[in-house]
Amino acid sequence: LSTPSIHRGLAGVVVDTTAISTVIEESNSLTYRGYPVQELAGRRSFEEVAYLLWHGELPDAGQLTEFRARERALRPLARTTAELLTRLPRTCHPMDVLRTAVSLFGAEDPAEDDGSPAANRAKSLALLAKLPVVVAADHRRRRGLDPIPPDSSLGLAENFFHMCFGEVPDPEVVRCFEVSLILYAEHSFNASTFTARVVTSTLSDLYSAVTAAVGALKGPLHGGANEAVMRTLEEIGDPARAGEWLAAALAARRKVMGFGHRVYKHGDSRVPLMQQATDRLVALSADPGTARLAALHTALREAMAARTGIHPNLDYPAGLAYHLMGFDIPSFTPIFVMSRVTGWTAHITEQLAHNALIRPLGAYNGPDQRVVPAA
Ligand code: CMC
Repeated sequence: LSTPSIHRGLAGVVVDTTAISTVIEESNSLTYRGYPVQELAGRRSFEEVAYLLWHGELPDAGQLTEFRARERALRPLARTTAELLTRLPRTCHPMDVLRTAVSLFGAEDPAEDDGSPAANRAKSLALLAKLPVVVAADHRRRRGLDPIPPDSSLGLAENFFHMCFGEVPDPEVVRCFEVSLILYAEHSFNASTFTARVVTSTLSDLYSAVTAAVGALKGPLHGGANEAVMRTLEEIGDPARAGEWLAAALAARRKVMGFGHRVYKHGDSRVPLMQQATDRLVALSADPGTARLAALHTALREAMAARTGIHPNLDYPAGLAYHLMGFDIPSFTPIFVMSRVTGWTAHITEQLAHNALIRPLGAYNGPDQRVVPAA
C-alpha cells in the first residue's frame, strides 16, 4: 500500500489560481490587483481599495463619487436587525455579535439569490457599509451608551470614529486608521478567505460564506491575534519585564501573539508601514502612559528577535495602534472584519467564476473494520 503524502494545515499547497493579490517573495511585497499595497496605502482611500479589489481596477472620479454615495446610503441598519442585536448578551464577544449580524443580513435580504457577480457585488457593498455600524453600536453598547447613527457627510473611516465616539479625531489619526484598513483588506488564501471559498464552492450564498469567515477570523492564530497582542502587553506591564516574560512564555511553549506568519518567514511586508503609523499615533498621544507602552512594545519585539529571530506580523503594530486610537480590545478583530470583508467577497466572486467543489481527502488512521457487538 502506498502512503499518501499528508499536507497538515495545507502548508505549501496551492489549491487554485487567484488574480486578486499576491506576496512577491523577492521584494517581500504584497500587491492588490498588481498595485503594491504600500503605494495604495500612501495614495488612496480605503473605499478606492475596496473598489479595486472588487472590480479589478481603481475607480475614475465619476465611479468613485457614485461608489461613495452608494456606500453612504446603505449604512443604516434595518430596525429589526438593530433591535435583535441589542438583545444579545452584553458579555458576548463582539465577533459573536458581528457573526450573528451577517447571518441576520442574509435572512433579511429580499434579493433573489442568483449568485451573479452583480448581485454579489451589491451584497458586498451593503456589508462594507453596514458592518462598521454594527461594530460601533456594539462598542457603545458595552459601555451602556446609545448608538450614534451614521453621518452620510463623512467617509467610511471618519464615520466609524463618529459612530464610536461622537467625534472625529485629528485627520492624522483617521489616516493611520485608514492605512490599517487598507493593509488588512486582502491577503490571498488565508484561513478566513479560504473558509469563505470552501462555503462558496458548495454554491451556498455570500452571507453564509462571510458568516463562516468571521468565525475563522476570530481565532487567535488568525485575526484574534491583534486583540491578544494588547492583552500580552497588559500582562507584561513593564518594559523591564519583557525579556523575563518572554523567556518564561517560550519555555512554556506559548505562542507569542503578533509574531510569526505562515507565508512570510523573513518579515511581514505590511509591518513597516503599520509600525510607522503606530509611531505617529504614539507621537500624537496626550496620554502619559503611552511612552511606556510604546517602550514595552519595542522591548518585546527586540527580545523576540534576539531569542527566536521570529518577526512581528501586521497584528503586532495594529493591536497597539487600535488601543491608541481609543478602541477597546474586543473591537480590534471586528475592525479587521470591516476591512477584510472586501477581500473575502472578492474571493467569493472569483471562486464562483470558475468553481470546483473544495473537498479534500483524509488519510484514515482509525481502527480496522470490525463487527458491531450484539447489544
Ligand atoms: N511564538 C512562538 N513561537 C512561534 C511563533 C510565535 N508567535 N510563531 C512561530 N513559532 C515557532 C513555532 O513554535 C515553531 O517552532 P518549532 O518548529 O520548534 O515547533 C516554528 O516557529 C514554526 O511555527 P509554526 O507554528 O509551525 O508555523 P505556522 O506557519 O504553522 O504558524 C502562525 C504561523 C501565524 C500560526 C504562528 O506563527 C503563530 O501561532 N503566531 C501567533 C499568532 C499570530 O500572531 N497570528 C496572526 C497571524 S498573521 C495575521 C493574521 O492572520 O491576522
